[in-house]
Amino acid sequence: MYVLIVDDEAIQRTLLSGFLEKQGYTVLQAESGGTALALFMQYPVDLVLLDHRMPDMNGDQVLARMKEQNPLVRVIMITAYGAVDTAVRVMQLGADDFLEKPVDLTLLLARIRAIEEQLQITFDVARVQEAIDQESLPVRMIASSPAMQQVLSLVLRAAPAPWTVLIQGETGTGKELIARLIHQLSSRKDGPFITLNCAAVPEGLFESELFGHEKGAFTGAANRRRGVFEQAHQGSLLLDEVGELPPAMQAKLLRALQDKTICRVGGEQSLPMDVRILAATNRDLKQMVTAGSFREDLYFRLNVLTLAIPPLRRRKEEIPELIRFFLAKYGSPATFDDQALGQLVKYHFPGNIRELEHILQRTITLSRTPMISLRDLPPEIREYRGISGEGDLTGRLAEVERQLLIEALDRHHWVQTRAAESLGISERVLRYKMEKLQVPKKN
Ligand SMILES: Nc1ncnc2c1ncn2[C@@H]1O[C@H](COP(=O)(O)OP(=O)(O)OP(=O)(O)O)[C@@H](O)[C@H]1O
Ligand SMILES: [Mg+2]
Repeated sequence: MYVLIVDDEAIQRTLLSGFLEKQGYTVLQAESGGTALALFMQYPVDLVLLDHRMPDMNGDQVLARMKEQNPLVRVIMITAYGAVDTAVRVMQLGADDFLEKPVDLTLLLARIRAIEEQLQITFDVARVQEAIDQESLPVRMIASSPAMQQVLSLVLRAAPAPWTVLIQGETGTGKELIARLIHQLSSRKDGPFITLNCAAVPEGLFESELFGHEKGAFTGAANRRRGVFEQAHQGSLLLDEVGELPPAMQAKLLRALQDKTICRVGGEQSLPMDVRILAATNRDLKQMVTAGSFREDLYFRLNVLTLAIPPLRRRKEEIPELIRFFLAKYGSPATFDDQALGQLVKYHFPGNIRELEHILQRTITLSRTPMISLRDLPPEIREYRGISGEGDLTGRLAEVERQLLIEALDRHHWVQTRAAESLGISERVLRYKMEKLQVPKKN
């Protein structure tokens, strides 16, 4: 990384450059704003340490010119001790950080490292975006929030490696989409991408589902069948909802992963396995290990790399973009007015992106006009007041309870008997609570 040190005092320049060169940075030095700008045009400078007070031009001007030339350049301004107003101003002008004189070298190094990390992420993300464009993925995805950019940066590094990746995240956060992205960005992209939903296979059929079976292996096995491991040969296999694997199957899966071979049910010969394993779950596997419901050795096999996909409520800034994305996907001319949009951004989306998508489908289908306003939104959103950090515990708990009632009622089309049953309470208690918590009677 190229670092440009700009300071009119030679001692200061020598001190800083000596220190940074020792840390492995390539250092350039300038004694004036003019020289600094000249060097800046010649070299691919990533970071500038800029003295605020210089004879020919002050730091503000140099900063502004550099940012004009290259908006991505990072600048740490070095200001006089205690000059708070200067510090505030340089940050407003686009400096990324400031340090006071005399410069604390440990602090400086920490700041530089943080900037480097950010640069790396920006760079990785740019590469991911390029890759996405080039490969024309089956699905485009929105990932503009800092939290998702970090995920993409990890995806890029994890994709080419042969290791297993464990993708963790709440329901509907996009785990399967991320798994597909990893596959597309790996050298196996021309091979198959196979998903096995571990929660959907009856226990008795699991082994055959994973490893296949020979003709006549068991009653009903009329033909030889290939399991998902064989189907995914030279490609990737996503073990979805891997936390739902029954214990006996956990053992069999572990053996297959260790031996790198599989054996069809009723078969004699073991077949070599050439599959990249990806696993996804919305459960806390580590906790399941502690509780004894998931094998620790299998957990370590699967969890070579972990990707944690943040829930939508932690990346609310993506909501407007996601809405546009889905409206375009459905070719809908609808737009959301500010109030409706505001309420959607406020909502906590327990079902994450999938829930948002369903809500949009429902809203644009039912709405009579293309301008969607608050009253067109489903009740669980319209009525959502937010479980904010404010208020006492009782009030906040009541709000949580209120949300749960509305969600349950809505899921059961506002049939109170069914909603009460799903919540494990009597209809009378439900009605009492609805009254107390001011839940409307119906949609
Ligand atoms: N970042 C995103 N941008 C656009 N669409 C997304 C994004 N993330 C998820 N989706 C869409 O949301 C839906 C749910 O995603 P996906 O099936 O990958 O979630 P999941 O985490 O596997 O959910 P589950 O835990 O329920 O299996 C899909 O239709 C997917 O295309
Ligand atoms: Mg899924």
